[in-house]
This record gives sequence, structure tokens and C-alpha cells, in this order.
Amino acid sequence: MTRFIIARDYEDMSEKAAMLFLKQINKKDNSLLGLATGSSPIGIYRNLIKWHKEGLLDFSAVKTVSLDEYVGLLVSDPQSYRHFMDENLFNHINIKMENTHIPNGLAANLETEVAEYEKRIEMLGGIDMQLLGIGRNAHIGFNEPSDSFATDTHIVKLTQDTREANARFFNSPNEVPTKALTMGIGTIMRAKKIVLVSYGVNKADALYKSFFENTNPRVPGSILQYHADVTVVADRAAMGRIIDEGMDINCSI
Ligand code: F6R
Repeated sequence: MTRFIIARDYEDMSEKAAMLFLKQINKKDNSLLGLATGSSPIGIYRNLIKWHKEGLLDFSAVKTVSLDEYVGLLVSDPQSYRHFMDENLFNHINIKMENTHIPNGLAANLETEVAEYEKRIEMLGGIDMQLLGIGRNAHIGFNEPSDSFATDTHIVKLTQDTREANARFFNSPNEVPTKALTMGIGTIMRAKKIVLVSYGVNKADALYKSFFENTNPRVPGSILQYHADVTVVADRAAMGRIIDEGMDINCSI
């Protein structure tokens, strides 16, 4: 089932989504959280850091697994997702670094790495709450449009569209890695709860197609229609097409 929360703007979206994580951690202090990078989650992490500093949130027992990582970037590279997660969240809260898991894009054997990552998630008890952003082409994690849904954590070749979208973070588009490791659609779908955040008009089609057209691996986000507990937190612009086309949504503001 999908519930929609319409936010006024990015700040509102970030606070509303962060609140869902606060509730999750307060309910289960050793939750396994699935985390995402990109511009959508930064405001959520800012709120979590703030609430931690105010004494409202304790991460000492929390464990995290990240959705994805580029292949070939050093951990110290500012564009690596390990660096992103450290800078935007982990360095500012009391999480134990050994409880933060990210696929290793520098592993000597990437096939072994992805298989072990999948096993690790299972051994950690499965993901309690997974945070997702969504790409313009409706990718989730780095699960790009394809002929079939890839199930487990795997190696992906990034599409031109995704590389272009991510080029804004690099000095030149050529520096964007061509491959990444990502949780699969199955990994994501096994999460007990999913929170998808999205803002801005350029995500309006991706959201509409994901939740109001037939499920199709060419629209990876459309698999989420089959998940039992999805909350979409999005601003008015990202919800634009869904609202304009008068879709019947289970919604709160
Ligand atoms: C990030 C990830 C991607 C992003 C998506 C949206 O870990 O897996 O799927 O969530 O590309 O990115 P932003 O939030 O930058 O628009």
C-alpha cells in the first residue's frame, strides 16, 4: 500500500520524512536503516543530526546499509557514497562506524562483494525502514530501466541519463564512474517499510509512472506498487502530475 504525504517545499519534505525515521528509531533502537545518497535525503539527514544534538535521537544501537556505491572511487574521494554518508550523517551522530555498511566499490572481486553484501543484510535481520530517492527515469538505487527486475545486490552499468544527472557533482561529466554496485529490486522490496522522498517538477513523471501506470521494469520505481508499506513524501511540484490528473490517493498533508 502506498501513502502519500504532500510537503510544502524541500524543508517540509525533509522534516516530515525525517520524522518517520525518528519514530522508527524510537520504536526500535537497533533498527537496520537502508540509506540513500543524492540531493533528496540531505535535508532528512540534517534533521536527524539536529535532533541527535538536541538529545532526541540516539544512534548508538542503530545499524545502516546503504543502497549503492560507485565502482572505482576511493573512500576519500568526495564523490564516493561512503564519503557522502560520512559527511552528511555519520560524522555528526553517535552511530558506531562498524554498524554502517556500504557496498565496497573497490573490492578486488565485485561479484563476491555484492553476494556478501546481500548476505550481510539478511544476517543483520533485514531492513526495517528503507529510504529511497527516485531518478528522472524512475530508477531506484541504481536499478536502471531494463528488460527485467534485477533481484539482489548487483553490479550495474550506469545509463547516460543517470551519468548526466550525476555529473553536477563532478568536475567533468567524464569523471562520473560508468559502473556502480546497488541493492537490487528484491533487496529493496524485502525492506519492511519504504520511505521515498522526491521534490521538484523534474520528478513528476517518474512519480506518476511509478505509482499510476502498470508495473514494468522500464520504470523501476513501479515495482513499489507491490510493496505493503510505502510512504511517498514529496513536494507539490513532484506530485504535480498525480494531482493534476486527479488520481485517487491515500494522502495526508
Ligand atoms: C542514491 C540513489 C539514487 C537517487 C536518485 C535521486 O543513493 O540510489 O537512486 O536516489 O538518483 O537522486 P536525487 O535525490 O539527487 O535527485
